[in-house]
Amino acid sequence: MINQKMQDAINKQINREYFSSYLYLSMAAYFESAGLKGFSNWMRVQALEEMVHVMKFYDFLLQRGGTVTLLDIEAPQSKWTSPLNAFEYAYAHEQKVTGMINDLLTLSNSEKDHATANFLQWFVNEQVEEEASASEIAQKLKLISSSSEGLFMLDRELAARVFTPPPAPQQGAKA
Ligand code: FEO
Repeated sequence: MINQKMQDAINKQINREYFSSYLYLSMAAYFESAGLKGFSNWMRVQALEEMVHVMKFYDFLLQRGGTVTLLDIEAPQSKWTSPLNAFEYAYAHEQKVTGMINDLLTLSNSEKDHATANFLQWFVNEQVEEEASASEIAQKLKLISSSSEGLFMLDRELAARVFTPPPAPQQGAKA
């Protein structure tokens, strides 16, 4: 069974992953209003991926005999000054999330909770991808600068992203 300290930290992380989903959904609306449907699609997929992160923590906590406590979700900002500003914000946000995952891992090690440390490895790897994808798009936007043709091309590229749902967890299966 998971201890109280670890349980509280995971409940907080569930909340932060929910916030991430909220943030990207807010960015999707911003892009849609700006007529950039491809960017909006990319953010909608990202918001769904964050809900996968939520459910991974949620299922893991239940599986360890813990109690899931859903906390108030902070409202994300709703406006950005440019697509680059939004992606730089997303990149900075993912760097913060990486810090949170690292803190959780440090806690699981100090609590000698090897099961949680093992579970967190998936998130350690995932954060490498999360940072890389936001940073890569921010870099492309910097290269494009004020070219509307470049923005149009990138919008078309981002329209191709699809959400792949993870396999449904089976009763009693490993989260
Ligand atoms: Fe759940 Fe984007 O990290």
